Amino acid sequence: MAGNIYGLDLGTYEIKVYDERKDEIWKEKSAIATKNQTEIFAVGDEAYAMYEKAPQNIEVLFPMQGGVIARFCDMQNLLENLLRKRQFFGSEYVIAIPTDITEVEKRAFYDLVYHSSARAKSVSVVERGIADAIGCKIDVYQTGGVMILNMGGGTMELSVLAYGGIVMNRLLKFGGEQFDQEIINLVRRNRDFLIGRKTAEQLRRTFGIFSEDTKSKMQIAGRNLILGLPQRTDISIGLVRAALKEQMDDCVDAIQTMIQRIPPDVLRELKKNGIYLTGGMANLRGIAEYLEESVGVRVSTVDYPELCSMNGLREIIQDKKRYGRLTYSMLDKGYRWLE
Ligand SMILES: Nc1ncnc2c1ncn2[C@@H]1O[C@H](COP(=O)(O)OP(=O)(O)OP(=O)(O)O)[C@@H](O)[C@H]1O
Ligand SMILES: [Mg+2]
Repeated sequence: MAGNIYGLDLGTYEIKVYDERKDEIWKEKSAIATKNQTEIFAVGDEAYAMYEKAPQNIEVLFPMQGGVIARFCDMQNLLENLLRKRQFFGSEYVIAIPTDITEVEKRAFYDLVYHSSARAKSVSVVERGIADAIGCKIDVYQTGGVMILNMGGGTMELSVLAYGGIVMNRLLKFGGEQFDQEIINLVRRNRDFLIGRKTAEQLRRTFGIFSEDTKSKMQIAGRNLILGLPQRTDISIGLVRAALKEQMDDCVDAIQTMIQRIPPDVLRELKKNGIYLTGGMANLRGIAEYLEESVGVRVSTVDYPELCSMNGLREIIQDKKRYGRLTYSMLDKGYRWLE
């Protein structure tokens, strides 16, 4: 049986898929493991579990980088393998994609699905900021101004929406992954201790960004670089927060710069409606409070923020009559994206 509709959000950290027939959302890590650089060994969560642990001849790759497809063939293999477990031939696809990327990068999302073995019936795209806003239960056609900040694994996307369209958008190419790298760097410099990306992520998730707590510690495993031996050590919350500070400030700067450029009428509405935080990083403890205090505009988060754009896509797919005009096909004659 063919003819299902899938919604896709191809993230740097996780791929999210909405299956219309089953009315369910699922996600898998954006990772693929290859053996001897030729054979596909594992995909998704299974491949990610092997990261930093795999034997020499197995390489774990992350085909998405900074919100765009960096390794086209690997990404195509990954997606095909994930969808193969389902009925995916002859289906329709709606993909949520970032706005502030080049036409070539946008086209790659389209080609990825259209020219894959999925033999897609149709492929359309929707701006991720719009899908996010619908996922936040914002009436996108009526709102006079609202800001969405999607903080993901490899990007931060800032979108200002008004009356069914995106007024301003900026994609910053840093996200959770870069925060974790900062933790790795600081622990290395400060303690001569080497930790992996997954350990850094665990530290960040445990400690969060902002709270009264200044005393917590967490025991982690790594390599003592002076002795060259594997060891366990305690890392304090202060060290982790210090590592996150600079990038959080970059994020605050980006929001403030955008706010300065917003047309006054939209800004007035935006100040009333506030900023909505989505993406997996919105789960970090204290992040909404930190941003609200730094920027001076109300910041709200939704439940399961990493699935927010998928919830929006689900609405778009289910209510084509209402939301159909927000989706585009790149083959349309009148196709035109935000300039
Ligand atoms: N409960 C949590 N606490 C803290 N951080 C979390 C939590 N859940 C997810 N994250 C972080 O969120 C990030 C992934 O978010 P998300 O799934 O939105 O990214 P993505 O869509 O794959 O990436 P992008 O949109 O940047 O391409 C990761 O860095 C992950 O560590
Ligand atoms: Mg994302």
